[in-house]
Amino acid sequence: MSYVNMGQILKKAREERYAVGAFNILNHLTAKAVIDAAEELRSPLILQTSTATVKFHGVDGLIKQLIPMAEYASIPVAVHLDHCTDADLAKKCLDAGWSSVMFDGSKKPLDENIRLTKEIAAYAKKYNATVEGELGAIVGVEEDVIVASGDEALAKVDECKIFLEQTGIDAFAPAIGTAHGLYKGKPKINFDLFKEIEEISSCPLVVHGGTGLEGDVFKQLISLGAAKVNISTAIKIAYCSGLKSYIENNADKVEPLKLDQHVIDVVKNTTKEHILLFGSANRI
Ligand code: 13P
Repeated sequence: MSYVNMGQILKKAREERYAVGAFNILNHLTAKAVIDAAEELRSPLILQTSTATVKFHGVDGLIKQLIPMAEYASIPVAVHLDHCTDADLAKKCLDAGWSSVMFDGSKKPLDENIRLTKEIAAYAKKYNATVEGELGAIVGVEEDVIVASGDEALAKVDECKIFLEQTGIDAFAPAIGTAHGLYKGKPKINFDLFKEIEEISSCPLVVHGGTGLEGDVFKQLISLGAAKVNISTAIKIAYCSGLKSYIENNADKVEPLKLDQHVIDVVKNTTKEHILLFGSANRI
């Protein structure tokens, strides 16, 4: 259907109160699995790439696989760079063809985060690409970005206001108590804070740390306006468990395409479960 940026996808999601899944893909196989899932459920899709995945494949090597897949898909697909702390890499990805990037300056002082995020937002405009920014600290490990437990700082409403006004970003991820990776206990999510930030936000809000959140937590956040939900760990788990289970059950076989198909099916099922929870099915 089309290779798009996140603008239209998230605007509609915010208006109609559903969320679009941003699934961190690792390679061609996982990209195919999440696209297949979204096509089957007629959902818009954000193919998300961590900076570690970009470094593994190379900037051009990765985007040259993903853009044709997005263009060929029968649904709108954005390709978004996740948690990029390096302004030069974010610009390289925009030059290469990413339709969206997240600049993560959340570990920097507010004025420095604003300056760099604003710079990336201006740079992205010339490509009609979109930019996500972050305030506060989301605990856990997301590939290269590590925030130790105890270091978490929820976003502050007055700072969010300044950040949003000055950066002109298209999507905003405030820290509200969710965490990257697997939750060790029940997450302490500040729904009131999320609601307050949503009400003052000019752009759609993003929830990070989607893996392991309960269905009613997603429901509540989406009813409060969450328009994008990031899912990474669940895709990694599905990918590795798909590989392991096929090999364990077919130790005597040498059939790579059947192995790939099995892995695709496992990743696709995980993706479909999330799309159904987010309410983005049948929105095309
Ligand atoms: P999970 O690994 O918890 O799904 O978090 C993903 C994420 O927020 C990526 O930015």
